[in-house]
Amino acid sequence: MTGTTGTETVLGAPAERREGREKVTGTARYAAEYDGPARAHAWPVPATVARGRVTAVDAGPALALPGVLAVLTHENAPRLAEPDDPILAVLQNPRVPHRGWFVALVVAESLEAAREGADAVRVAYEAEPHDVTLTASHPDAYTPENANGGYPAVREHGDPDAAFAAAEVRVDVEYRVPPLHNHPMEPHASTARWDEGHLVVRTSSQGTGPVRAALAKVFELPEERITVSAEHVGGGFGSKGTPRPDVVLAAMAARHTGRTVTVAFPRRRLPAVVGHRAPTLHRLRLGAGRDGGLVSLSHEVTTHSSRIKEFVEQAAVPARVMYAAPHLRSVHRVVRLDVPTPSWMRAPGESPGMYALESAMDELAAELGVDPVELRVRNEPAADPDTGRPFSSRHLVECLREGARRFGWAARDPRPRSGAAGALLIGTGVAAATYPVMAAPSRASAWALPDGTFLVRVNATDIGTGARTVLAQVAADALGVPLDRVGIEVGSTELPAAPLAGGSSGTASWGWAVHEACARLADRLTTLPGPVPEAGLGAHADTAGQADAESRYSRHAFGAHFAEVAVDTVTGEVRVRRMLGVYAAGRILNARTARSQFVGGMTMGLGMALTEGSHLDPAFGDFAESDLASYHVPAHADVTDIEAHWLQEDDPHLNPMGSKGIGEIGIVGSAAAIGNAVHHATGIRFRELPLTPDRVL
Ligand code: MOS
Repeated sequence: MTGTTGTETVLGAPAERREGREKVTGTARYAAEYDGPARAHAWPVPATVARGRVTAVDAGPALALPGVLAVLTHENAPRLAEPDDPILAVLQNPRVPHRGWFVALVVAESLEAAREGADAVRVAYEAEPHDVTLTASHPDAYTPENANGGYPAVREHGDPDAAFAAAEVRVDVEYRVPPLHNHPMEPHASTARWDEGHLVVRTSSQGTGPVRAALAKVFELPEERITVSAEHVGGGFGSKGTPRPDVVLAAMAARHTGRTVTVAFPRRRLPAVVGHRAPTLHRLRLGAGRDGGLVSLSHEVTTHSSRIKEFVEQAAVPARVMYAAPHLRSVHRVVRLDVPTPSWMRAPGESPGMYALESAMDELAAELGVDPVELRVRNEPAADPDTGRPFSSRHLVECLREGARRFGWAARDPRPRSGAAGALLIGTGVAAATYPVMAAPSRASAWALPDGTFLVRVNATDIGTGARTVLAQVAADALGVPLDRVGIEVGSTELPAAPLAGGSSGTASWGWAVHEACARLADRLTTLPGPVPEAGLGAHADTAGQADAESRYSRHAFGAHFAEVAVDTVTGEVRVRRMLGVYAAGRILNARTARSQFVGGMTMGLGMALTEGSHLDPAFGDFAESDLASYHVPAHADVTDIEAHWLQEDDPHLNPMGSKGIGEIGIVGSAAAIGNAVHHATGIRFRELPLTPDRVL
């Protein structure tokens, strides 16, 4: 199997998405589209109080409507065993932990009948006083043990307070990031049926393995009696990284009615039940010498979580890795409020944390009169500032330099407000990016078939990233065969077990196992005496023990973002005229899909900077913005000129492909680059996102 031509560069090639044609012709089926005989539809009923309990549900008017089959409430819904994730304990008791929590589910012959039925259900509540307002001085604020991902909530080196007080130059600033919402193009949906005691589920999720595990737990079934598949997924951005109530409700409704049932959440229900990026209040204290060297860096974050679950956005974590400061503190505090439960949203932690840190670095650069690129270069650490471990590879400086060159940074006039053009103020800004490298154990199998083709099987999930395509490239590379000879199956718990698409770790985790299985198969084929047998020839891999092994290296991807903005002094509107990102993220495995990930992340950062954000209404206790008419994500017209580049980075301390994750780093720091450009344009520091015209004018 050696010497095959045309495969030497299969890794890294801009291979087209395998499912592209299905998607653009509308034949790709999503979870809500699996029509079966006698399929029923369900529509949820949200709580209309922010805290309290349900005292009565009158289902009569709903049941009297044509087509309505059932109304599930906490009184008649199937009993569930306690889930690991409290958000899945739906319709089990009368408690209302936050507004929008589901208190009933109407099942009907049609989507329209279910919706009409949901409107007709009458729910009475005993309301209690609620509090949804986060403040840094909230009396209930506490320091948790860990933040999301198991990071210690507090890390401290040296004496940051004393060093700050003694520093020649000080920046002491507060930044605010509002709640943000994932809003994937395809809202969460599941279709479920019970087939002689076997639960069959189609769902929109970033990982069918965790969904099956959650269903096994609540329905007290062995996992072998549950099949969960997710063939196509219209985005998730973290909100589909954990099982959501749609899948539990669909299975409950299917059991209750004996029908196939689809639960497809209306978009307006998403903010309350699929997680959100919690608001974060940041205090940054940077103390530096006149030469720009940091002596003290302190990042303190206060965030919220719900009454039912502690989730702490780890926004101070990137401060542990970015800069060489001998006195270094990072602290998280959380307030449990009567709010929906927050969760992962693209680059949890890094995204809001680097907005604040990289904005504060820009303030320090201005204070010192040092170029902001140079300031970052001067504070480049020799080793991980928190753990002291060497970096497996770190090319932040090279990203900054290459970005500056491509962007034309050298021609910049550093003076704020120096770029006036009529009613427009033009400015440019820079910020750094980082994201950790992770990988989880995975299994995969590879088969050689008698017709000379190959089949790779792995329960990866393609959430729109092109996972199928890149895994086929990994396989073709390891087998030494052309890409079109490799078939791939993903997206079902019937396949070899694999972790979710999350933490920018999917390709590394699945690809590791695919690579190993294919390398083993290639070995077997070289020693095979005759032709491939009729039944095929297989090889398996299980990377448990390799993928999660502690490394003696600190492993992170890095990048640099540059932005040019025009601020309209008449309307207060900020437009991003150019955006450029340069990344060092190990080996890039598919130039086409990687570029899409980087550009997509940067676009999401543009939304975070300029348009996205929601408000918790203190009276109603809910997000005021719950649909795309009020929660504004960037449209094509907002993104005129956006470029993503990367460095060739060879890092031998990663996985067999040499890749770092790329799904999240694009959003990290991009909002800061835009905010810093707005300061350069206007001379004004805005320290709260988003930079909407009402704030800027
Ligand atoms: Mo990503 S927020 O880990 O799905």
